[in-house]
Amino acid sequence: MTAVCTLADLPLERGVPALVDGIQVALFRLSPTEVVAVQHRDPYTGSNVLARGLIGSRAAGGTGPQVTLSSPLHKQVWDVRTGECLDAGGKDLLDLATWPVEVRDDGVHVMPRTATASLTA
Ligand code: FES
Repeated sequence: MTAVCTLADLPLERGVPALVDGIQVALFRLSPTEVVAVQHRDPYTGSNVLARGLIGSRAAGGTGPQVTLSSPLHKQVWDVRTGECLDAGGKDLLDLATWPVEVRDDGVHVMPRTATASLTA
């Protein structure tokens, strides 16, 4: 695991970009103790902007509301926990890479994953 920051560095429901083993990730603190990480790179434009996206929610069958991330550039929407693309704004569905995050002793730790061309180009 890579220690990225402390919990106090992350404002609630606001994204913070971080570099994890050479890959830009977007960290979002969804609750006092839950932090998720998705790729910072917008798969539709190739720009590193997703940490500036908007957190929201939408109803989902059975499992309670889904926490969503909307791209700051266009209309795409993802499930910020799973990376699943929920609304591609009329384009092909492009999911986001996600990283396991562990919050321990107020430290935010992200599990590295192998760099892929789509994340580092
Ligand atoms: S830095 Fe070792 S587990 Fe996070």
